[in-house]
Formats: sequence, C-alpha cells, structure tokens
Amino acid sequence: MARITAGVTTSHVPAIGAAFDAGKRNDPYWKPVFDGYEFGKRWIAEQKPDVVILVYNDHASAFSLEMIPTFAIGCAEEFAIADEGWGPRPVPKVYGHPELAWHIAQAVIQDEFDLTIVNKMDVDHGLTVPLSLMFGPREAWPCRVIPLAVNVVVYPPPSGHRCYMLGKALRRAVDSFDQDLNVQVWGTGGMSHQLQGPRAGLINKEFDLAFLDRMARDPEALARISHLEYVRESGSEGIELVMWLIMRGALDEAVEELHRFYHVPASNTAVGHIILQNKP
Ligand code: DHB
Ligand code: FE
Repeated sequence: MARITAGVTTSHVPAIGAAFDAGKRNDPYWKPVFDGYEFGKRWIAEQKPDVVILVYNDHASAFSLEMIPTFAIGCAEEFAIADEGWGPRPVPKVYGHPELAWHIAQAVIQDEFDLTIVNKMDVDHGLTVPLSLMFGPREAWPCRVIPLAVNVVVYPPPSGHRCYMLGKALRRAVDSFDQDLNVQVWGTGGMSHQLQGPRAGLINKEFDLAFLDRMARDPEALARISHLEYVRESGSEGIELVMWLIMRGALDEAVEELHRFYHVPASNTAVGHIILQNKP
C-alpha cells in the first residue's frame, strides 16, 4: 500500500532560485539560507521518497486571471519548467505520477473536494525552488512529483480549515492506493511577506515563530486563522501559509518534528522550513 511517511514545508522565494542557479551557494547573503536545508538534504537522501505531492501556488505562470482553479491536481506524465519572464530555470523537467494522481483525483472528489484536473501545466518557482532547496543541484529529480496548485494569488483563496481538511482527504486517498509507495507531502510558500502597497516589506517574526511552534502540536488552532488575520499579521502574501495546512492535515495527529529552520530575510520574505515525520 502507498503510505504518507513525512511532510516538509518551505518558503519558495524566486530570488532563492536565481541565487541557486547563479552558483551563489556560499555568497554571504545566501549562505545562511542554503545552510538551513543541509539537514533536509541529508535526511531526504536516506528517506528516498517515491513520490512527493507538492502543494504550491502558481504565480500567473500556468494560470492567469482568465482561469483561477482553487485546487488543481497535475495528472500529466511530465511538467515543463515555466518561463517567468527571464527564461525557464535551468532545472530538470518534473515527472509526475499519473496513476497516483488520477487515483487521488477520483478519491478526493468522491470525498467531496472538487479538485480541478490538469493535464498540461508549466510549473514555476513555487514548485521548483522547494525542489532545489531539498534536493540540491540535479541532472534529474530523484522522485516523481504530483503538483497540487492552490489559488492564494487572487481573492478569495480557500480557508486554512478547508486546506487542513483537504490534507486529511489526501491522506485517505493515498492510503487506499494499492502500490507500495513512499509518499511525502510538501506544503510550500510563506512565511510572512508583503510584496505590494504601503506595508511592502512587512515581516512578522513573532507570528511566524508561533506558527512554526504550532505546526506539530496544535494544527487545529492554525486551521482557525482567518484570511483577515493572515493579511493583518503576516502580510498580503503570508496567506501562502494555508498551503502548509494541507501538508499538516495529511500527516498523523501526533508527529515528530525532525527539523526546523527560520531565517529573515531572503529577498522580501521570512524563510521557514520544517520537517515532520509520522511515527513509524
Ligand atoms: C517573493 C516572495 C514570493 O513568495 C513570491 O512569490 C515572489 C517574490 C520575494 O520575497 O521577493
Ligand atoms: Fe509566492
């Protein structure tokens, strides 16, 4: 049977991708950021997940104002790297797992979460930066990736509670897939940041640290944070944090926190990263 063994969360700042691609691993500004992922890189090399369900948000690369799916699952064989205005990042193509993705679509939709099924979708920094941070430079990604895109760009995004409950439905779906697969769920985006308006540059360390504290022990409380509270406390783009709750909902109630990292700033964003593991 397929099983969800662990979850990873990480911020996804595009400038991290640019620094990574330009070989700035040891640049004084970027070194502390990349250092925060050394544990995760060693850990994941031992874990060898077969599939990562990578919850992320598209930044007007695959979708636009013409079409805004709230939750969209990528069921394709492969996903091209998006051109976000300066050419696609020089990272490997992303290979999906259509059988598991279609199974999830079927199970989750029948479980009353109406996912949009996507068979062609270029993936942007929201998906590729977390892959680079966790796997380092690669000729090919060492696992299959099922993109699960969440709208957090155009109002109204889904509530944190809806995301948390979707995580639980994802768990039921993966548990009922009859291939022996080691599956991880990643929740990406966040932490506090605001890219626009008079409060551009906002970072709220206190809010972020409390959020990190509650990921393992009190996700129900996190699932009750309202949109207004996200915007007020974590800035307009801090709403990306609802995606972390999909990862959390997909794990056991009691989890082990293996690693935590927090760093301010990377570009305009507070970088947060956590690794949670289901108890074997
Ligand atoms: C930045 C952060 C984001 O989440 C994003 O999508 C774009 C830019 C930033 O910090 O610059
Ligand atoms: Fe973003």
